Amino acid sequence: MDKKTLRINRRNWDQRARVHGQDRLYDSAALVAGASSLTEVELEGLDRAVGQVTGLDVIHLQCHIGFDSISLARLGARVTGLDFSPVALAKAAALASQCRVDLTWVEADVCDPPNSLYHGFDLVYATIGVLCWIGDIGAWMTAVHHLLRPGGTLLLVEMHPLQGMIDTLDPLVFDFPYAFDGPHLLDSPGSYTDRNASIKATQTVQYAHSVGEVVTAAIEAGLVVRWLAERTNAPRDFRGDLVGPEADGWYRLRLGAEAAPVMYTLVADRPV
Ligand SMILES: C[S@@+](CC[C@H](N)C(=O)[O-])C[C@H]1O[C@@H](n2cnc3c(N)ncnc32)[C@H](O)[C@@H]1O
Repeated sequence: MDKKTLRINRRNWDQRARVHGQDRLYDSAALVAGASSLTEVELEGLDRAVGQVTGLDVIHLQCHIGFDSISLARLGARVTGLDFSPVALAKAAALASQCRVDLTWVEADVCDPPNSLYHGFDLVYATIGVLCWIGDIGAWMTAVHHLLRPGGTLLLVEMHPLQGMIDTLDPLVFDFPYAFDGPHLLDSPGSYTDRNASIKATQTVQYAHSVGEVVTAAIEAGLVVRWLAERTNAPRDFRGDLVGPEADGWYRLRLGAEAAPVMYTLVADRPV
């Protein structure tokens, strides 16, 4: 990723990380008290990917303020959290220490992880809102391949790109492409945790990646795709502004009467 793009996005993420941590998505008090941040969807993905994580070396890519990293460590994994935001990592480390769990934190561009981490992991774990920051999805998947041991597995749980296309539901307005068409310089005020959050560096650079492009990138990087599931329900409103929960507690994106895809899970292995 070019340095200017990284700088723009890092500035935005440093500020978001500063305001995240006690809000509708990130409940630090509950985490410290022992709650897990892993939802049914991530647990299903972990089950498909590796079964138990106990005793595994796991790298959590784009770990943000470390909620899932800490939750994975509590399940008995040896966890490394990687992010390019020093503010996010400092918050993650402080939370881990309050939770009394030991993790390793690495500050790096996810597409260019330190060589010392190569072949070090049984599981690469990445979830929700990671790929839209990545210009070169091939470089992201190649980094995953480098990080995995032979026989290791990628678990990617991501927002469906169809959801990313939608600006408003009523009226239905699309303002973002489905598939990659280069960088989009956006003004992104607030955050998904709070649309009114005080964020000064509101510029971001984001990218669309279709499901087909993601799967193809995984294959071209040398991974073997084992499972791909699209979901029409999500455990949370990840965007923070689109839909509320239905009677069963799940969030759906209704286009007319029908629920559109909102998430997908990809499991892929590095061959032995
Ligand atoms: C939406 S958050 C991921 C949320 C995470 N799944 C969670 O549960 O909190 C996206 C994260 O990607 C990180 N990020 C964005 N671009 C990056 C890059 N090129 N290298 C490393 N981290 C990056 C941001 O700092 C941010 O923490």
